[in-house]
Amino acid sequence: MITACAVDRLPEGESLRIPGEPAIAVFHTDGEFYAIDDTCSHQDASLSEGWLEGCFVECPLHAALFDLRTGMPTCLPAKKAVRTYPVVVRDGVIYVDTGSTEAVA
Ligand code: FES
Repeated sequence: MITACAVDRLPEGESLRIPGEPAIAVFHTDGEFYAIDDTCSHQDASLSEGWLEGCFVECPLHAALFDLRTGMPTCLPAKKAVRTYPVVVRDGVIYVDTGSTEAVA
């Protein structure tokens, strides 16, 4: 489990990049928090810099659209899914469950 940030630091419609291997993008949209791999499955673009449209993020480089709930691309040029991660909100803090036991601030 890694720490993303305090809930009030990620307003609705905003995103956050957590550096690491892999880097993770966290989004706040439609009243929910979502976490996916930050690197697009097509080429080397940061999805946290993409545009949010409901539960979808558009890659800033070639405009593939990814479903934040499943990680699946809904259009070309991306063909592979990005990984999704469970998000836990506890005591006003957003955590991403990467399967790791490390805690990163
Ligand atoms: S890098 Fe994301 S669609 Fe090409």
